[in-house]
Amino acid sequence: MLLRQNLHDLLEEKLTTLNRLRPLSKTMVQKLRERFEVEMTYNSNAIEGNSLTLKETYWVIQEGLTLKGRPIKDILETKSHKAALDFLYEIIEQDSKNTFSEQTIKQLHQLIIKDIDPNMAGRYRDIDVFISGSDHTPPSALDVPLRMRELLLWQSKNQKLHYVVEFAAMIHHMFVNIHPFEDGNGRTGRLVMNIFLMQYGFPLVIIQKNDRRKYYRVLQAADKGDYKPLVNFIGQAVLRSINIYLDTLLPAKEKEALISLAEAGKHTSYSQAYLSKLAKEGKIDAVKLRRNWMTTRKAVKDYMGQTKR
Ligand SMILES: Nc1ncnc2c1ncn2[C@@H]1O[C@H](COP(=O)(O)OP(=O)(O)OP(=O)(O)O)[C@@H](O)[C@H]1O
Ligand SMILES: [Mg+2]
Repeated sequence: MLLRQNLHDLLEEKLTTLNRLRPLSKTMVQKLRERFEVEMTYNSNAIEGNSLTLKETYWVIQEGLTLKGRPIKDILETKSHKAALDFLYEIIEQDSKNTFSEQTIKQLHQLIIKDIDPNMAGRYRDIDVFISGSDHTPPSALDVPLRMRELLLWQSKNQKLHYVVEFAAMIHHMFVNIHPFEDGNGRTGRLVMNIFLMQYGFPLVIIQKNDRRKYYRVLQAADKGDYKPLVNFIGQAVLRSINIYLDTLLPAKEKEALISLAEAGKHTSYSQAYLSKLAKEGKIDAVKLRRNWMTTRKAVKDYMGQTKR
């Protein structure tokens, strides 16, 4: 398996805990969903150059405000992304396993792009493109329909052969590698990946804008056939989302308090810097909130137990 075993085990353990809490409180789930919609919209759009801040994104999509002094395009993109996310949730709620198709991909793209360029929305490109900041050249426009059919064929044959996180990461890369549309490939690709993760029961997975350089680096490795860094990168993003869900939904008495790495360092012989390295590499159960890594006493203890074994 490409996903590190301890990360795999951690994700499964947390998902079991989340499922044990079902049915989840409707109010809490709604609140979480709103929070994640804002975060995802902000991060996914910021990765592609949108200038809105997290707060502004909140104002636009939750409060319906129009912002003075921000490009209209950035505001339209924010609203469009929210509409695409609502559609994504609809797909997941349909509860059918066969929702992945070229039509679904095009529908997601349509929602992302229609207010910016209606002619381009939901249509494969007819020009050649490049990806700035990367060495990868996507295939010729003439090959896009065939390459997309191959992607769908690969999906139907391989989905059962891979762990869902591994599979979602690979599909994401194959999709952005083809770059089937003139614009909006990154945003659409991040939604597409979530279809599989969310159908499996994970919460919405968000690639952070702050991780953009790492994201490009792991995609570059995948271009060369090395999927491991990408798979583990996505795995850590899944862990972050599920940690936030559990932190909100677990009854207080069952909850492990999140502590800073400085705090965690006081209870072990590990330095804060070493704990930070472990967190970044996904070797310890930790979650990055804003700019700070947080962990729990249990996570540190578990890690110490593992290394002793
Ligand atoms: N080396 C790479 N191989 C494949 N895909 C990559 C690579 N590096 C980056 N990408 C993908 O390409 C996207 C950026 O490319 P580009 O700016 O052309 O996207 P786009 O079509 O404008 O999409 P959007 O507007 O949603 O970002 C990234 O978000 C990422 O998903
Ligand atoms: Mg773009």
